[in-house]
Amino acid sequence: MKKRIMTIFGTRPEAIKMAPVVKALERDSELEPIVAVTAQHREMLDQVLKLFEIEPHYDLDIMKERQSLTGILIRALHGLEEVIAKERPDLVLVHGDTATTFAGAMAAYYQRVPVGHVEAGLRTWDKYHPYPEEMNRHLTGVLADLHFAPGIESKENLLKENVPEKKVFLTGNTVIDALFMVLKKDYQFSNTKIQNVISSNRRLILMTAHRRENWGKPLENICKAVLQIVEENSDVELIYPVHLNPVVREIVFKYLKDQERIHLIDPLDYLPFSHLMQKAYIILSDSGGIQEEAPALGKPVLVMREKTERPEAVSAGTVKIVGTDQDNICAALNQLLHSQDAYNIMSSARNPYGDGQSSKMIIDVIKEYFKNDGEPL
Ligand code: UD1
Ligand code: UDP
Repeated sequence: MKKRIMTIFGTRPEAIKMAPVVKALERDSELEPIVAVTAQHREMLDQVLKLFEIEPHYDLDIMKERQSLTGILIRALHGLEEVIAKERPDLVLVHGDTATTFAGAMAAYYQRVPVGHVEAGLRTWDKYHPYPEEMNRHLTGVLADLHFAPGIESKENLLKENVPEKKVFLTGNTVIDALFMVLKKDYQFSNTKIQNVISSNRRLILMTAHRRENWGKPLENICKAVLQIVEENSDVELIYPVHLNPVVREIVFKYLKDQERIHLIDPLDYLPFSHLMQKAYIILSDSGGIQEEAPALGKPVLVMREKTERPEAVSAGTVKIVGTDQDNICAALNQLLHSQDAYNIMSSARNPYGDGQSSKMIIDVIKEYFKNDGEPL
């Protein structure tokens, strides 16, 4: 009898990083995938499902406009209770650190279903940075039976928390699997704004920003910094696919709309976005996933956060933390724009997150786990 593995995810980044795992499960003759999405994100999740041709068995469709953390958690937990009770999977896999991740782990635990945590062990040790992800991943880690650590430091974090070593597996990050899958495909940009920017001789800054702890003043500072940089550097174009969160969009459009060399667009599908990262001169972001992708692409990323849980990317040299102060962001951008030496140091590709085989490694661990009657070896 095939072992039945339920993957649970709900947001864009979880979907991108779980897609290679779902695909690997589909190919495996000993395992059967069951895909349950909370749809904590709707449009941004559907973009990824379509690209990777994943049709969920269960779609809880929980997203509401301006949803609260409590609201997401309650709706996800409630919906997942029913799905897990009906399917009784042999293992639940959750990913990362969103509200869906924690709800998925908790719902599985309540029904005594073992939990595998993909992208386990990331820590800043600061309860509110990033908020609420730091607590979501701690809490999920406490509930997990198998921990798939993407990097050496995340593995060490778990060992420091006394997670038994036999339950922790260094697998790399499945985002690299996903990235390699989409970069293999040819892509021609159909968006004319993007085409015009690429065919101009100007340097492209690709930007994303959405984090909860940056809402309000920090995001305003970020927008002011970007305005200043584009004004000061006539050879720069900026593309910002703006997250669909209305809280983010209100601020971003207030400050950055109708600027000649600032292009605000809707979130891009992962296929064009990955190809656009390759075309960028600099990436400016507060995203987690982009910090993992950029070292593989050799693109400098300035991270607009106070702390990062991805120290491997900082050590690789491609990622630099610049915070959310306007002057600091401008100084870091100007340094990269005006010093070729500074740029060269940050732009070599040194990928610390594996060779694109992480999902296969995860599947191998899961099979071993079942051969050993559900005990880590
Ligand atoms: C969530 C995760 C965060 C992750 C981010 C990735 C939590 C608490 N937060 O934050 O860890 O980094 O996703 O993007 O789990 N919306 C849409 N359509 C969409 C997606 C969002 O309209 O496809 C709007 C809705 O109004 C929604 C709001 O954005 O209420 C916020 O979505 P939510 O998932 O609560 O928060 P994110 O900031 O996206
Ligand atoms: N991404 C995308 N389209 C976009 C912006 C980002 O496909 O318009 C991808 C990006 O390459 C990365 C992931 O989305 O893999 C990051 O998602 P997000 O920034 O929403 O979340 P975070 O990584 O901060 O949790």
